[in-house]
Amino acid sequence: MKPIKKITCIGAGYVGGPTMAVIAQKNPNIQVTVVDLNRARIAAWNDHDLNNLPVYEPGLDAVVNEARGRNLFFSTEVEKAIDEADMIFISVNTPTKTYGKGKGQAADLKFIELCARQIAAVAKEDKIVVEKSTLPVRTAEALKSILDNTGNGVNFQILSNPEFLAEGTAVTDLHNPDRVLIGGEDEQAIEALVQVYEAWVPRERILTTNLWSSELSKLVANAFLAQRVSSINAISELCEVTGANVDEVARAIGQDSRIGPKFLKASVGFGGSCFQKDILNLVYIARTYNLHAVADYWEQVIIMNDHQKTRFAEKIIQTMYNTVNGKHIAFLGWAFKKDTNDTRESAAIYVADHLLDEEAHVVVYDPKVSAEQIYKDLDYLGTRSPEDNRRLIKVVDNPYEALDAAHAVAVLTEWDEFKGYDWAKIKEGMKRPSFVFDGRKLLDRKELNRLGFAYYAIGE
Ligand code: NAD
Ligand code: UDX
Repeated sequence: MKPIKKITCIGAGYVGGPTMAVIAQKNPNIQVTVVDLNRARIAAWNDHDLNNLPVYEPGLDAVVNEARGRNLFFSTEVEKAIDEADMIFISVNTPTKTYGKGKGQAADLKFIELCARQIAAVAKEDKIVVEKSTLPVRTAEALKSILDNTGNGVNFQILSNPEFLAEGTAVTDLHNPDRVLIGGEDEQAIEALVQVYEAWVPRERILTTNLWSSELSKLVANAFLAQRVSSINAISELCEVTGANVDEVARAIGQDSRIGPKFLKASVGFGGSCFQKDILNLVYIARTYNLHAVADYWEQVIIMNDHQKTRFAEKIIQTMYNTVNGKHIAFLGWAFKKDTNDTRESAAIYVADHLLDEEAHVVVYDPKVSAEQIYKDLDYLGTRSPEDNRRLIKVVDNPYEALDAAHAVAVLTEWDEFKGYDWAKIKEGMKRPSFVFDGRKLLDRKELNRLGFAYYAIGE
């Protein structure tokens, strides 16, 4: 097979953008074009001011700056880019279905199918199609069927190449991945993709498997990671009633090399666009095969996570004398984790929703999330009217403004900057007693107690 000269990626989101930027950076001889239907998003990727890129990731601006215009292009001309490419990555969103069969669990594959149909309609020469999106096991079969039934004689090879980057560390994860996984049937196609990654990833970290193992491994990796978070969060509740400290327990068990120290940070609950979606999908797939014990087992990871979010909101209400009506609660953070502007499934949304139900007055500060996004997240839940959301929640771009005259502070995201605030000054401006509810175990309990705060942290 001839080496790949032109790559097109459909989908310029949190995965397509950073992944292709790094592929282009490391393969200056390959022309990489990232296309999307969303014009505003493409315009933002092309913005001269690198602060306006649509995805905030530490280090991403430098990578884009190096490759953009050289061999990295962002465009809305989907058909042209499909036509020209030797290899096409599909990196569109695969959200949980909100309608019909599998509603609330199965992955919605309508965007994937649209891509396949578009590739089938446009392609005039043989192409390698790479599944970069996270997909249910055996999706490649459906893709192949759509692509092969076009009747124009073009030969498509399908590969599965799931992405394991985490948001907030996408660039370092892409530069130095634990592994790259490639599933496929055709040796030559696999080798062509291996060569793209070999430009910077050591060969022994590039794993090749059959298609189905690759598709399934992505769901399983996320399920295992999320399960660890739910496991430690379950223990955090037990710690609170027994006098144990969840960080100490995590350290004690994490030193066992069989358990390992990562993903044992108790929190207000995991968020993000992947964990919940992918586990629900795994549960759905297991149920489709009538494997109910398997489905129930993994579903518990989600149930525990929902419990943790509710429990945190309830703790706030209960501690504040069982009413937050009219009380000013400052939220530090809205993103689902630090170092990203992504808010999908962020625990903050659900905690806020719970407190708004009790007529609390929430004031939010997040270093990277816009007011528009915060209102969009709440409106999407449909719990109350957009007018009520805007009446009850205020978004500010100065943390001290959020905290001034607050009855309580809730830490929802572990942004580093929160640790460095002038907590003595904040205490001065707050109502008394001054409550801090630390959903990320970020702040210094001793110091806050010394300053006179009533400090509550998960798992202590
Ligand atoms: P995203 O929503 O940020 O981006 C998807 C983009 O695809 C959107 O900009 C959308 O406009 C575009 N799109 C949809 N249909 C299109 C079409 N027919 N033609 C052109 N563009 C189209 O999603 P994301 O977070 O980048 O996730 C993409 C996939 O990667 C998902 O399957 C997800 O599960 C998986 N994934 C995500 C992460 C993550 O951290 N976000 C990590 C690993 C894997
Ligand atoms: C995850 C996977 O880590 C990544 O491999 C996959 O490609 C996409 O899904 P992401 O969701 O971006 O990445 O971030 P991650 O670091 O996994 O965090 C997910 C959520 O779990 C966040 O809300 C985070 O705050 C939370 N978390 C993580 C904890 O509460 N405790 C931990 O110990 C780790």
